[in-house]
Amino acid sequence: PEYAVGVDLGGTNLKVALVERTDGIVRQATLPTEAEHGPERVLDRIVEGVQRVVQGFEAHGHVEGIGVGVPGVVSMDRTTVTKPPNIPGWERVRLADHIGPRMAEAGIEVRGPIIAENDANAAALGSAFYGAGVPFDSFIMVTLGTGVGGAIIVDNRLFRGTTGAAGEIGHMTIDYEGPYDRTGVAGALEAYLGQKFLSRHARYQLLARETNLYATSGRDLEHVTPQRVHAAALAGDEAAREVLTWAGHKLGVLLGSIVNLLDIRKVVVGGGVSRAGDFLLDPARDAMKRWTMPSLCEGIEIVQETRGNDVAMLGAARLVFEHIDDAA
Ligand code: BGC
Ligand code: NA
Repeated sequence: PEYAVGVDLGGTNLKVALVERTDGIVRQATLPTEAEHGPERVLDRIVEGVQRVVQGFEAHGHVEGIGVGVPGVVSMDRTTVTKPPNIPGWERVRLADHIGPRMAEAGIEVRGPIIAENDANAAALGSAFYGAGVPFDSFIMVTLGTGVGGAIIVDNRLFRGTTGAAGEIGHMTIDYEGPYDRTGVAGALEAYLGQKFLSRHARYQLLARETNLYATSGRDLEHVTPQRVHAAALAGDEAAREVLTWAGHKLGVLLGSIVNLLDIRKVVVGGGVSRAGDFLLDPARDAMKRWTMPSLCEGIEIVQETRGNDVAMLGAARLVFEHIDDAA
């Protein structure tokens, strides 16, 4: 058996898994990231998380390396993370340089590399080898969470572009006169489907309507989360269904353009908002076909990630296994 550690570094939580190459997750831990306490604290938390999943494990084997998925752009050589939006204070951080010595200090032996990758890219790799992406050789991954992430898998490998940043689907525009995302792109997908934006839209939709969603949110529209919108949609709430239809439509329009560009026709959607399932994905399927050239429509498919948020950890660990395979 071969083991690697996969880390999913989120703005709120840090998820860590010990992953066996074929069996997948063997052990896992979730810790608060404590990003508000600054970069040093976050690095300490990563080491603590790794420690938790490898504790007492030495008797069974050793860890080949550590992969870390981060919510921002990662350099081509997978060492350096630039300004992850949810982790204030990180300008450019060479992850391995910081984590390696801390691991040694903590008495954790890591024989192989420490590899960073964009979180959505990690999720796509995880999906390709352990999740909904398994049946597809090439597909597009979209992750709908606080940010909107994306990745391109071609023949079971990540397409990383010129500098490693390829796949920033959340910052592609669907309306150049639309609202700005946090990077200053007008009408970017993230400015509609990012969790905060989607909640805000839901609130506007509901303000004037006495809906069940309004009632279940304690009449406090600040509490309209995507999870609540989904629950209300399930319960038959019309306004909630309209919000998800609106969001799915936006997503589908963009996916149509992506098919026209890449001729990749399979899409896996993950992240918290994707739990809305077909309420979101059916309108996305319709719009995607409508915005794809008719001659490219055959075989278009959008599926929901089956492994939930575990795919990012799985994919982060997968980076280590790929590293081993590529070196061989
Ligand atoms: C960032 C991506 C990231 C995504 C999901 C976006 O805002 O630009 O790099 O993958 O959020 O965390
Ligand atoms: Na990406």
